[in-house]
Amino acid sequence: MKTHQYEVLIVGAGGAGLMAALYASKGARTAVLSKLYPTRSHTGAAQGGIGAALGNAEEDRTEWHTFDTVKGSDYLGDQDAIEFMCEAAPGIVYDLEHMGLPFSRNLDGTIAQRPFGGHTNNITGKPVTRACYAADRTGHMILQTLYQQCIKHNVTFFDEFHVIDLITVNGATAGAIALELSTGELHIFHAKAVIFATGGHGRVWEITSNAYAYTGDGVAITLRRGIPAEDMEFFQFHPTGIYKMGILITEGVRGEGGVLLNNEGERFMDRYAPTVKDLASRDVISRAMYLEMKDGRGINGKRYLYMDVTPETVNKYAASDGRTRPDGTPFVVTGEEILAKLPDIIDFCETYLGVNPVTQPMPVQPTAHYAMGGIPTNLRGEVVIDSDRNIMPGLYAAGEVACVSIHGANRLGTNALLDLVVFGKEAGENAAEFSKGISYQTLPDDAADFARQQFDQLRNGSGNEKAADIAKEMKEVMFDHVGVFRLEEGMQEAVEKVSELKERFKDVRIEDTGDRYNTELLNTWEIGNLLDLAEVTAVSALARKESRGAHARDDYTERDDEKWLKHTLVWLHEDGVELQYMPVTFTKFEPKKRVY
Ligand code: FUM
Repeated sequence: MKTHQYEVLIVGAGGAGLMAALYASKGARTAVLSKLYPTRSHTGAAQGGIGAALGNAEEDRTEWHTFDTVKGSDYLGDQDAIEFMCEAAPGIVYDLEHMGLPFSRNLDGTIAQRPFGGHTNNITGKPVTRACYAADRTGHMILQTLYQQCIKHNVTFFDEFHVIDLITVNGATAGAIALELSTGELHIFHAKAVIFATGGHGRVWEITSNAYAYTGDGVAITLRRGIPAEDMEFFQFHPTGIYKMGILITEGVRGEGGVLLNNEGERFMDRYAPTVKDLASRDVISRAMYLEMKDGRGINGKRYLYMDVTPETVNKYAASDGRTRPDGTPFVVTGEEILAKLPDIIDFCETYLGVNPVTQPMPVQPTAHYAMGGIPTNLRGEVVIDSDRNIMPGLYAAGEVACVSIHGANRLGTNALLDLVVFGKEAGENAAEFSKGISYQTLPDDAADFARQQFDQLRNGSGNEKAADIAKEMKEVMFDHVGVFRLEEGMQEAVEKVSELKERFKDVRIEDTGDRYNTELLNTWEIGNLLDLAEVTAVSALARKESRGAHARDDYTERDDEKWLKHTLVWLHEDGVELQYMPVTFTKFEPKKRVY
């Protein structure tokens, strides 16, 4: 078996992984392992913007960004980490600009910004223009820019190397085991520090905006190594996915003046969030959409609504809202402007729906979008392993796989890209510094055994179960019962169903027993990861008897700060799931009822 040695090893080549690699490589011998070619990573699907209080279009302040993020999190976010991120935001956006990121521009040459849900002027309560964007390709541009920077700084990439296991020695990090897709061989990567940046797990749900690769590998691997996951019950449903497909229609559409309409042509967000309307936070809008559809106001009685960004509609509502441009002139858009600002959205709708958003409304429904929970970390990116916030030496996580916790119970749009660059950089720098002070751990002889056993089981299975059937049943039960609205009985059903599916998964047999490019083997292994994540999500959700952020229960409709203002930690043991709780960190904001 080939063994490689790097001081810092990064697993995943999305925005967080690349940012970590860029900064780790300045101080340590660094390699990135990615199951995809790096620029195919899911960061490329992030569209609308990265949040930073630059104030290019109107007054804005980092304290407002901080408060909006705390409020958006329904007060479950750790306020020290939120302050750190929002204060770092303007500087890091300018760093990206200086690296060559092609942001859209204002006429005066400054970075263009647009409004996004939950971002407000804290004095007026009205939406503020805080999302720095590159048309509707902001994540794509971040990914390309960071990849070019990594190449420039000679970061070593192992593309199509799929990490299967973490190596630990005496409670500290010693490396990772990866399967090389082209040969089927296992490789040992001996490292002083490992940073997980493997992204999210939206593929647990039936309708999702997430890439096929978003199978929760990082959380599944660390759970199997005895590391807990945090706040897994909080999974965000983005209000606007393409009907039935889930493909993201950016919130930037609403930032550019688009409105959600029901089958009566009513802009229903007026009733649910009278001040910010279509720019309320995502949990609020997704719930409003479900209620509209439940009350029979879905389009043609079906389970979708319209997202309308046609100039006629935008200009009508901008006038009634009294919306103006930064120079005080009325906000009026043309079809050409919509096309220039939202080119990918227009392309997706024409390709997948035969709908031109400049002249027609887009059919949309809420889509599983983002994991607020994940591997617990502190704001240095170090992985936390218990409720006293002790860490595992040498282990780091950043980006969607991590729970810092910035987003608490609900993330604001544009804070995912910000989180991944800010904490990717922190994890990279801190891992490099850590690696300078220590020697490599001695590798155990059986380092690759656990990874090999997992594949042997899938290759040699004798049962008749098909992994795809199991995945389909998991996605349906999770979408129906651990989705936008939740009830005790439904979540109980999901817990039992996932447990049954995990039993059946033991009888899965793959057809392809070859070594080279055995994607069936890896996809099946990924479904095993999704099942573990579905289990800890459903169990954590069932236990939390309140409604907070994205966790909305019909049977416990109120937030309960007395009992539930705390983070969940969940462990996955051989004999079941264990839950513990950890206090939230407060600095200056006392919990209040959220009103938008
Ligand atoms: O709507 C969007 O463009 C998504 C952005 C985000 O999730 O932050």
